[in-house]
Amino acid sequence: MAKISPSILAGDFANLERDLKNISGSGAEWAHIDVMDGSFVPNITIGIPVVEALRKVSDLILDVHLMIDRPIRYVERFCKAGADYLTIHLEADTQENTLAALDMIAAHGVKPSLCLKPGTPAEAARPYLEKVAMILVMTVEPGFGGQTFMYDMMPKLRTLRQMLDEVNPGCLLEVDGGVDLKTAPICKENGAEILVAGSAYFRAEDRKVFVKAIQA
Ligand code: DX5
Ligand code: ZN
Repeated sequence: MAKISPSILAGDFANLERDLKNISGSGAEWAHIDVMDGSFVPNITIGIPVVEALRKVSDLILDVHLMIDRPIRYVERFCKAGADYLTIHLEADTQENTLAALDMIAAHGVKPSLCLKPGTPAEAARPYLEKVAMILVMTVEPGFGGQTFMYDMMPKLRTLRQMLDEVNPGCLLEVDGGVDLKTAPICKENGAEILVAGSAYFRAEDRKVFVKAIQA
């Protein structure tokens, strides 16, 4: 069964505790937290103290998506802040540092995850496949919510699933960007198991119905 990971980027930053409670109440088990540094992406969102504060008020699986340069500098602190899954970008550092950062995350008992921007081919993920608990395929350019889903990422999703099945079949595949009731079934058909949804989730008239539909 697929799982939804509602993105609080589309929530109300003055009421994040309330939003997390609503996420649990709507039947979701995950919450997606977008961390942006104004350098890797042209936007700045939230950081370590906020993740720490959210951890204290929620039992949701915290799915922390770091859109920051050289994440190795910060992964330890995000692990200690309470991330359950910690995602770093393949494009954000050298291969050597990215491998080391994934190891550091795992050493803290947190699930290491790797994200690919739309322009990064599946093949680029090969050196990391055995080290990750999840691969996140961006279906928009990272940086902002509310963008249009890129259907042309679906072959990449299928390729990654095949590559993972050979060496790390338990690894999850996640999609992020433009996921709604129309695009979610396509993501699932192509192998996505965790579906991030920001705008579509928070806009839904009935979030319980929305979660059920995505997770069906
Ligand atoms: C974009 C973020 C996404 C964003 C998705 O850089 O990584 O997680 O919140 O938002 P929607 O679902 O509105 O495309
Ligand atoms: Zn995200």
